[in-house]
Order: sequence, then C-alpha cells, then structure tokens
Amino acid sequence: MDYSIETAPLEDLQCDCIIVGVYQDQQLSPSATALNNSTHGLINTIVSRGDLGGKNGETVLINAVPDSKIERILLVGLGENKPLSGKDYKKALLAAVNSVKKPQIKSVVCCLAECDVAGRDRQWKSRHIIEVFNDAAYQFTHTKSDKETESQIQKISIAATETERDLAHSGMLQGKAIAEGMELTKHLSDLPGNICTPTYLAEQAIELSKKYASLDVNVLEESDMTALGMGALLSVSRGSRQPAKFITLSYQCGDKDAKPIVLIGKGLTFDAGGISLKQPAGMDEMKYDMCGGASVLGTLLAVAQLRLPLNIIGLIPSSENMPDGDANKPGDILTSMSGKTIEVLNTDAEGRLLLCDALTYAERFNPEVVIDLATLTGACLVALGRVTSGLLGNDDALCNDLSAAGETANDSVWRLPLWEEYQEQLKSNFADMANVGGKDAGTITAACFLSRFAEKFRWAHLDIAGTAWRTGPTKGATGRPVSLLSQYLIDRAQQPKA
Ligand code: BES
Ligand code: MN
Ligand code: ZN
Repeated sequence: MDYSIETAPLEDLQCDCIIVGVYQDQQLSPSATALNNSTHGLINTIVSRGDLGGKNGETVLINAVPDSKIERILLVGLGENKPLSGKDYKKALLAAVNSVKKPQIKSVVCCLAECDVAGRDRQWKSRHIIEVFNDAAYQFTHTKSDKETESQIQKISIAATETERDLAHSGMLQGKAIAEGMELTKHLSDLPGNICTPTYLAEQAIELSKKYASLDVNVLEESDMTALGMGALLSVSRGSRQPAKFITLSYQCGDKDAKPIVLIGKGLTFDAGGISLKQPAGMDEMKYDMCGGASVLGTLLAVAQLRLPLNIIGLIPSSENMPDGDANKPGDILTSMSGKTIEVLNTDAEGRLLLCDALTYAERFNPEVVIDLATLTGACLVALGRVTSGLLGNDDALCNDLSAAGETANDSVWRLPLWEEYQEQLKSNFADMANVGGKDAGTITAACFLSRFAEKFRWAHLDIAGTAWRTGPTKGATGRPVSLLSQYLIDRAQQPKA
C-alpha cells in the first residue's frame, strides 16, 4: 500500500475516487463544497433529491463526473452537523472503505480528515484513515490457490491544506506503522496450527529482527527452560510433539538506564484443552490462542518503524496444548519457576501456566511495567462480549493509562476488579494454588492466578479472548490490541522523563 498527503486542489487530482463528507442537514464539508462548485452543483443536486440522507454510514458513489478530470466521487454521510465522536468517525470511515472495494478503484483521495471529531486533531484523524483503510484491505490468502483479493486499493492519499500538512503527515506515518503491525498480527493469527507452530512463531520473530536493526531476538529451547525451572510452561508442552519456544525480543532505543516496558503475549499455537479436551464445535478457532504473542510481534514492528525512544522487552511463551500420554492430568502438581506449586484441576486452563513462568522470567529485566496479553478465558466473552477487552491489574495508574490509550485508539478495554476476595477461589488442598477457580468470575480468578506471579512489579493483564478475532461468517483475526498498545507506547514516549 502506498500512502501520501495531497495538498493540490481536488479538481486537479489524478485518482480513481475522491471521498468527501456530507452532513444530515445537507451541509457539505469544505471538500464537498469545492467539488460541488467545480461540477456545477452536482453534489447539491444529489443531496437535494434525497439520494443521500446524510446519516452516518450512508454512501453514494458518483461513478461519472461530466466535464471533469475526476473519475468518481464517493459521498459519505456524517450524521448530525456537529463534531463526531471517535466511534462515529470510524463508522463513517468503514462505510467509505466498504463502498470503494471495487476492482476498478485502485487509488483514492480521502478528504475526511477535515471533518470535526470531538477532541481529536488532524494527526489522529489521518492515523485512523490509514488504519481503517489498511484493515479493510487485509485478506488472508496464504493458504488459498486464488490469491486475488476483493479490495484493489493500492494508493491512499489524505487531503490536507499546506498548514495542516505536517500533522497529517505524522498521523499518516503512525497509521502506517500501526497498520503494518496489525497486518503482521492478523496474518500470523489467521495461519492454521499446522503451519504456525511455536517453531514457526520463533522463526517469524527472527525474520522481524532481520528487518529492523533495532530489534534483537533470542529463543530459548526446552532444555533452556528446564534449566530455568519453568515447570509450569513445560508441563503444558509435554503433551505436544511440537517443542515449546520461549521468544524474547529486545528493543533498546530509550535512555540507557531507563527501565524497560515488558510485553508478554500468550503464544499457544493450538489449544485442544489437553486431557480436559474441549468440545469439537468451534475448536478450530483455538488456532487463535496465540493472538497475544502475535500482538507482541505486531506492536514491536510498529514501535521499530516509529523509532519510539523507549526500552521494550517482548516475551512470547509458545507451546501447544494437546491430549497425549505424557500430557498434564487433572490432579497433577507442578512447580513453577517462582517455586510456587500449582495443582492442575483443569488442563484446559493452560494459558496461565505459560504466563506465570513468563511473569517470573520478566523479573530479571527489572521492568518499569509489565503488560500481558492473552486469549485467556471464555468467561471474558460472557462478561464483555466481542466489543472490548478485559483489563485487570495491580496498578491504577497503569490501568488508567491503558484505558485512555484504548479510547484514543478505538481499541477499548474495560477494567474488572482484582480484589482479594476472589483469591480464595484458587485454594488447593494439595498445592499452593489450583489453576482454576470454579465457574464464577472466571476472568477475574484467571487474573488472580497471574497476580501471584506479578507481585514484584506494576502489572496489567489484557484478556483478549473476545476481541482478538471475529467468529461467524467473517471469521478472522482483528489485530487487536496492537492499536491500543502502540498508542500506549506512543503516549509513554511523549511523557516527560521521570
Ligand atoms: N484459550 C482458552 C480461552 C478461550 C476460550 C478463549 C474460548 C477464547 C474462546 C483457555 O486456554 C481456556 O481454555 N480457558 C478455560 C479456562 C477454564 C478451564 C477455567 C475456559 O475459558 O474455558
Ligand atoms: Mn485452554
Ligand atoms: Zn488457551
């Protein structure tokens, strides 16, 4: 995809489609007004005939413009004539992008960065245009014979005036970096479990580090993990023929003595449940159990592209969870790297067994904060659906920063309580704790489990079980929460140094 900022007058542009906004009260946006004037009132004619009501999300494609160099104009309804909310802005962009998914439209100029969005500037709007267009252009074809994609858009330009150019440009670069990070995340997530194994994920991390000199990678083998005492992680991997990998990415572009931000992503490349085998319906979707790990890779791609002045460590504990003669059995007791013992009451609660050892491993980096991302509990889908990710943590400031970043990024999180009272549910008669906390409050008790391994640092956990992929006819990875994490890191990079 080719991105640019366009400051020339609209009527002189060479592109397949110009996208402009129209409000519900028939008020034209500045660009729509300019095009209306240069086309002898064409847009006003369409609007006054009632062909575009102007409701947010409505569109009309004008596919021939007489006496003009312009090929096509897409009118997009913006709703009421007042500043849009961030969500409504995204809705209008989505409507626009879906209306230009046509083989004959390869290049577009988007004039929607001029509409007012409450509390957001040009940079924000430009970034979102790029993110939404890029997201819509994504199609997984890796394992299809026909690689032809529905969207043919190869070139997006954002219209801006000379004075707005710099802000629009920096927004475009942010959008491009984040969009490319999300693309990597989606691609890895959509790959099937027989291709995307722990070994494959490790190879992809190495590939990424070859593309960005600022990224270093180190991969621990099972023998290394044994030496470190990662008994919880290894117990999950024992039931699989694929060897586990523990991937560490290191990005050191901050002050030499600044403590790193550690990101941990669950990299379970297929979760069959183990001996506590899952139901067959929808089990294919458990190839997505590595979306947290893929999001760490995608976020680090964005960070490296933006050259953010931060120190970041990415950790991806990666394994399969399979039934096998050597797999974990209910009742088994493990010793984690921290020394704490765990009674496995359900082998399907394996994610926390990977994450607990990764959290303990994170201590050695003396982290500023640790954020883990995991498709951890089906209960999170019950609590929050597929709209927002679950957020839990032991530090209010960190949780507030993540909530704010989620709102800015249109990639929201919603905090759940991590109160002492819930810890009781993890009591075990035979070990320091059980790996499950019964049927109530499953997302919270999973986080309670993790919290016991995160006592030495500021920590937050994102449960992305409902948001990392879509189910149903549009089944596919979303690339969430790369946008949220990138925003959090951009915010951190802009914060004055403590
Ligand atoms: N990867 C799953 C969680 C999951 C399930 C994510 C469905 C998205 C959709 C996780 O490893 C798991 O199996 N969790 C169990 C925990 C339970 C045994 C306490 C679950 O949610 O059922
Ligand atoms: Mn599981
Ligand atoms: Zn899982």
